[in-house]
Amino acid sequence: MHTYRIAWLPGDGIGPEVCDAARLVLDAAGFDAEYCHGDIGWEFWRKEGDALPRRTLDLLRSTDCAFFGAITSKPMAEAQRELAPELQRLSRVYRSPIVRLRRLLDLYLCLRPCRAFVGNRLNYRDGIDLVMFRENTEGMYIGVEYPAVPESFRAEPGMEAIPPDAALSLRCVTRAASARIAEAAFRYAVTHGRRKVTAVHKANVLRETCGLFLDAVREVASRYPEIEFETANVDAMCMWLLKDPLHYDVIVTTNLFGDILSDLCAQMVGGLGFAYSGNIGDTYAVFEPTHGSAPKYAGQNKVNPLAAILAAKMMVEWIGQREIAWNIEQAVADVVQHGTVRTYDMGGTASTMDMARAVAQALPASHRPTEDQVNMRAALAQRIDSHGSKIEEMAGTGAVDSQGG
Ligand code: IPM
Ligand code: MG
Repeated sequence: MHTYRIAWLPGDGIGPEVCDAARLVLDAAGFDAEYCHGDIGWEFWRKEGDALPRRTLDLLRSTDCAFFGAITSKPMAEAQRELAPELQRLSRVYRSPIVRLRRLLDLYLCLRPCRAFVGNRLNYRDGIDLVMFRENTEGMYIGVEYPAVPESFRAEPGMEAIPPDAALSLRCVTRAASARIAEAAFRYAVTHGRRKVTAVHKANVLRETCGLFLDAVREVASRYPEIEFETANVDAMCMWLLKDPLHYDVIVTTNLFGDILSDLCAQMVGGLGFAYSGNIGDTYAVFEPTHGSAPKYAGQNKVNPLAAILAAKMMVEWIGQREIAWNIEQAVADVVQHGTVRTYDMGGTASTMDMARAVAQALPASHRPTEDQVNMRAALAQRIDSHGSKIEEMAGTGAVDSQGG
């Protein structure tokens, strides 16, 4: 009997191999869990018309939390064409499974730490240590879109200026969701010894939605007088982040702005190979490397698994095993600082599994993997390699959104 039950969702492309790397480190760190494989990804869209099958949602309900690798997403027309012939006429719509999971399970907080590890040659500047709190359930991501202006909207104020052939996407911001993400950011600041929270918005143009967001965040800020609070327009924020990244600490923002800003912040601390996320709700969470499925690298055992390893670290921390989490993060920091094992993005030649093994070896001695564990994971990696090439073939050429979803 294991202490925890984790839904394991490797997904597509490089998802399985980075998940494997994370597993090697989790096992080596002494995290005691049963991992339950869940079907998710492009293969299930093609065969079943659903990239996130019902049985996977049921599996999630029986687990403590989930770990997600990556998923290949393709533009609407292509997704439609790749559907099994018998599903073609059922007018199914492909939606990003991770966005669906966030909404279905009310994982309202997308937590994205960006820390410049000492010695990482990819750091834009040393000392960067930011934490992004991205609202994860609403904003531009509610999926309410129109290919043309609906007749029933015509009478609404301002609509007369909109040409009839316009496509529309609705942005929805609520006070409740804004307040809870703000609350999460301030609570985190207090419990993690952070000094400042910056709320990012565009209230000078998006007066209603960003206005409401800011109002709700301000109200929460007033209850945390010990934490410095400031606001910034999202455009200016991009500029300021590059100019003076050390000025920032905790950032809280709406869904789309958080998506964009978190990639910017990721690049400042080494790129997507270092970017990890927790999609966190009140009772459940899904952890993931922020990168996509990168089909062109699938099965090559080449990509940097540190993002997945750090996502695993965050999962362990969330579940309450702080010491193990701390050990993993410290091991990552040591390997990066040492600099002898580097994947291609870091200017080295180490493979995905080399990096995972290096992190495992850097763990405190009592948790180092046995020879058996290392061999078992290597065998698994090989199996995943062949699976990866299959996915790559399937993903075909071009037009694949490497951000997956
Ligand atoms: C992310 C990704 C997703 C998002 C995509 C894949 C739907 O970019 O997690 O940042 O936009 O949220
Ligand atoms: Mg993104």
